[in-house]
Amino acid sequence: MSLPEGVQYRTVGGERTLATRGPQVSEEATDGEWRAWDPARSKLGAMLDAGMETGLAGGETVLYLGAAAGTTASHVADFAGPTYAVEFAPRPVRDLVAVARNRDRLFPLLKDARRPETYAHVVEPVDVIVQDVATRGQAAVALENRQFLKDGGRLLLAVKARSEDVTRDPEAVFEDVTAELAEGYELLARRRLDPRHEDHLAVVARPG
Ligand SMILES: C[S@@+](CC[C@H](N)C(=O)[O-])C[C@H]1O[C@@H](n2cnc3c(N)ncnc32)[C@H](O)[C@@H]1O
Repeated sequence: MSLPEGVQYRTVGGERTLATRGPQVSEEATDGEWRAWDPARSKLGAMLDAGMETGLAGGETVLYLGAAAGTTASHVADFAGPTYAVEFAPRPVRDLVAVARNRDRLFPLLKDARRPETYAHVVEPVDVIVQDVATRGQAAVALENRQFLKDGGRLLLAVKARSEDVTRDPEAVFEDVTAELAEGYELLARRRLDPRHEDHLAVVARPG
């Protein structure tokens, strides 16, 4: 399994854990330099911890969709290059802005990921899209934002079945979402993130 440069398994706060190097965000364990990245609180962390081939090497330009208060986006900005973090709910964006204050590669955007034309003037072409929006229409969001992804780039997507339809079998939802995704992406890997993230599917894809 390959971890990006800047992400390591380390003993932090007495426990072996994924970790990145950067300023503490909330109450995660830290040794002053490295801070714990909890895969139970981060779908991207869970993807890396499960050994998925994400294609991440470190230093990439990233568009992060569904940044919330920046729990995962902050780790991404620790090891990646410029990280454009889109979130449409004002309350978490307040926290995200605070998290970005001492991270010069993290750029919060109070925007709706379904309306990429509202941030197209700010976001440069990116190597990676990380998407964790937990909303209906997750495939459509990935397709609408594909325009930002460079040829050979990667989409790292977490699909939450219940956000599409609480009543349907999650596997049926995942089939529909991945079939729709295939309209613009070639799927490289997929994996359920249960039990850490119940009824979530992780997908690695590239423009295709
Ligand atoms: C599961 S949370 C994200 C957690 C975050 N990725 C992390 O690991 O730290 C999903 C977030 O997506 C946001 N979201 C949902 N639909 C969105 C949209 N259309 N545009 C931007 N953000 C959206 C929600 O407000 C919520 O904060």
